[in-house]
Amino acid sequence: MQEQHGRRLDGKVAIVTGAGATGSGDFVGIGQATSILFARQGAKVLLSDRDQHNAEVTLATIKEEGGEASVFVGDVTSNSDCEAMAKAAVERYGRLDVLINNVGITGPGSVTDVAEDFWDTVLDVNLKSVMLTSKHCIPLMIETGGGSIVNLSSIVGLRAGSGKPSHAYAASKGGIIGLSNSMAVHYGRDNVRVNCIAPGHVRSPMVARQSTEEMLELRRKAGPLGTEGTSWDVAFAALFLASDEARWVSGVTLPVDAGLLAATPLAMYPYLQEKD
Ligand SMILES: NC(=O)c1ccc[n+]([C@@H]2O[C@H](COP(=O)([O-])OP(=O)(O)OC[C@H]3O[C@@H](n4cnc5c(N)ncnc54)[C@H](O)[C@@H]3O)[C@@H](O)[C@H]2O)c1
Repeated sequence: MQEQHGRRLDGKVAIVTGAGATGSGDFVGIGQATSILFARQGAKVLLSDRDQHNAEVTLATIKEEGGEASVFVGDVTSNSDCEAMAKAAVERYGRLDVLINNVGITGPGSVTDVAEDFWDTVLDVNLKSVMLTSKHCIPLMIETGGGSIVNLSSIVGLRAGSGKPSHAYAASKGGIIGLSNSMAVHYGRDNVRVNCIAPGHVRSPMVARQSTEEMLELRRKAGPLGTEGTSWDVAFAALFLASDEARWVSGVTLPVDAGLLAATPLAMYPYLQEKD
């Protein structure tokens, strides 16, 4: 592919799940940042979220900037909602090129104390949803020559996380990576690329709500870069994977984590003691 001029997603139609606004400024949600960035780069974006108000806030930002987007209200754990979501993208915009599976929830619990129904909820929202959205989006992508799916995993899908255990979250995020690899293989000949992003200690609205300043500082220091990550850092990785620049990239899990996965805990020990 020759170097492209113009916007990186011109002509593309994208669905972003969990696109609703959960924050503002630098500290927006990952789905929100991804939707805004994709629209800036020329994509027509279907803003999918179960929360209509939050999705409309993201829509307002995109419209103010002159971008093209619309809201779809639905639950990614519902087969019929996922079918309607995929159809809505094609009905409104004529094709479907990109699916960003961003919805994710978490909550405490180890295998010895997690409630079974909570385990099922987390697995349904985080992992089963990827199957349901992909089931309905892939055939539509194939009709127009292929597409790109980007699934939001987590560094917790690759290494145990810090703080209180959330084993359902870890299982779901690890499952997303395994599922993505298999999907990358089995839809490769259809020119459907499937990749994962594993965000690290991003300061998203959800994280900011649940963390003290001390915890946020520790999260920042734990990465070799020592700087705080935002949802925009993740959105830029999604932009690359969604675009034709990544036409030969499939089956990859890309950490966006300030280098955290490259370090052992002892490698970071001196840096964790740093006083600012
Ligand atoms: N924030 C982090 O540090 C971090 C780190 C690693 C991975 N991630 C992953 O990134 C993704 C986004 O995280 P975030 O913190 O920006 O999320 P967020 O909480 O800001 O946004 C999630 C959105 O999903 C929507 N949603 C929730 N359940 C839904 C459902 N069943 N159907 C449709 N919509 C639903 C919510 O309304 C909300 O708008 C998640 O998959 C998360 O696991 C985040």
